[in-house]
Amino acid sequence: MGLDVGTTKTFAVIGQKQRSGTLHIIGMGTAPSYGLKGGQIVDIVLTVKAIDEAVHAAENAARLRVSNVIAGIAGGHLQSHSERADVRLSPNENEVTDQHVNAVVRSAAMLSLPEDRDVVAVIPKMFAVDHLRDVPDPRGLVARQLSVDVHVITGATNAITNLEHCVEQAGLKTHGTVLQPLASAHACLTPEQRREGVVLIDIGGGTTDVAIFVDDACWHIAVIPFGGSMVTADIARGLRLPIKVAEALKIQHGRVDPWVKHDESTVEVPGFDHGAPVAVRRRDLGEVITARMEELMGLVRDEVTNSGYFDVLPAGAVITGGGSRIAGLSTLASGIMEMPVSLGRPQAISGIGEDHREPEFSTGIGLVLTAAQTGPTNNMLSNAVRSQQSPLGRMSGWMRSALSPRSP
Ligand SMILES: Nc1ncnc2c1ncn2[C@@H]1O[C@H](COP(=O)(O)OP(=O)(O)OP(=O)(O)O)[C@@H](O)[C@H]1O
Ligand SMILES: [Mg+2]
Repeated sequence: MGLDVGTTKTFAVIGQKQRSGTLHIIGMGTAPSYGLKGGQIVDIVLTVKAIDEAVHAAENAARLRVSNVIAGIAGGHLQSHSERADVRLSPNENEVTDQHVNAVVRSAAMLSLPEDRDVVAVIPKMFAVDHLRDVPDPRGLVARQLSVDVHVITGATNAITNLEHCVEQAGLKTHGTVLQPLASAHACLTPEQRREGVVLIDIGGGTTDVAIFVDDACWHIAVIPFGGSMVTADIARGLRLPIKVAEALKIQHGRVDPWVKHDESTVEVPGFDHGAPVAVRRRDLGEVITARMEELMGLVRDEVTNSGYFDVLPAGAVITGGGSRIAGLSTLASGIMEMPVSLGRPQAISGIGEDHREPEFSTGIGLVLTAAQTGPTNNMLSNAVRSQQSPLGRMSGWMRSALSPRSP
C-alpha cells in the first residue's frame, strides 16, 4: 500500500502484483488532512485519524486488510546541499571496487550532517579518479584516489519520526519511505522525458516539490514552501471571503489565462454576512491567482537556474499535484520557465479509473508503483533516485544496500 500523507488530503492506494508482473490497483481511499502544515505533521491525533480513514476506505474497496505501507516523505523540513568527498586507495588495492564507492558516497552524505537531521536520499552526481573528472562509473578503474560529488537530501529527524509514529499509531508498519517528488515522477513522467531531461513540479496544498531528471536519473530535488492553500488564503483575503468559499471559487472558476484580465463577468458566492451572496468579478479572481502563480513559477525558475541544469532540460517541465489544475497554468508557467510545460497525470494502470488519473493522485500512485517495482525495503530512497538504465543506475542495487536512508 502507498500512503501519501499530504497537507490537504491523505491518500491510500492498495496495489496487487499480477502473475504477469504488472500492477493492479484494488483499492483507494482519501480523507481530508487537518494535522499538517507545509507538508509537516503538527498534530498527531488528527494525522492518525486521517490515515485511519483513508486506509479503511482503501481496505474496504479492496476487501482486505493491509499492514505494511510505503509512506511518502515531504515537507519544508527537507533540505538539500552538495558535498564532495575523497578516499585514497592503499597501494596494494589500486582498483576501484564497490566498497570504495560505497565508502566515498557514504562519507560525502555524512559530511556536515547536523545531529537533528537524517539523510533521506543521496544522489551521486559525478565521480572522479585521480585527476580524471566526469567518470560515470569508476568501478574497475586503476586509481590512487576516488572522489565523488553528491547531492544530499536531509530531513528533520523529528519530522520523519513523527510520520512513522502516526503510521504506527494507525496500526500499520512503515515498510519503506520514498521522497514524494520521486513518487510523483514515477507516476507521471515517461522514460523518454526522464532520459532527455525534464523538471517535475508537484504543486500540492502546502508545498511545491521540484525534481530534475537528466539521463534517466534524478539530479536535483528542492521543496518550495508554497502551495495551493496559500493561493486560497490570498483569494479569501483579497476578495474578503470565507476560506471555504474561496477554495470552492478557485476550483470552479479559477483561471490564469491571458483573457481573464478582461473578463468583467461576475460569480455569486456566499459571503461573510450570514452567507448573503457577494458578486465576485472573474477578473479580480484571476488577478489574485495569476499574481500568486507567477510568483511561484518565478521561484521554481530560480531554483532550476540555480541548480545549474536549466540548459539540459529539452523535455521541459511537467506540472502535477492538485495545485496544477488551475486552468491556463501550463501556458503561464511556460512563459515564466521559458520551456514547454505540460500537465502530468498518473499513467494508466490497471484498476485506476479516469476519475483517479488526476494530478493530485500522482504521489500516492507513484508510491505504490515504486513499491511494486523495488519491493518493500527501507532503502528505497536511494533506489528510487537512480534508475536501472543509467551508468550510475546500475549501481543502485549495491548502493541501496550500502546507503540506509536513515543515519547508519
Ligand atoms: N481543480 C482545481 N483547481 C485549482 N486548484 C485545485 C484544484 N483541485 C485541487 N486544487 C488545489 O490543490 C491543492 C491540493 O493538492 P494536493 O492534493 O496535491 O496536495 P497535498 O498532497 O494534500 O499537499 P502537499 O503535497 O503540499 O503536502 C489544494 O490547495 C487545492 O485547492
Ligand atoms: Mg502532495
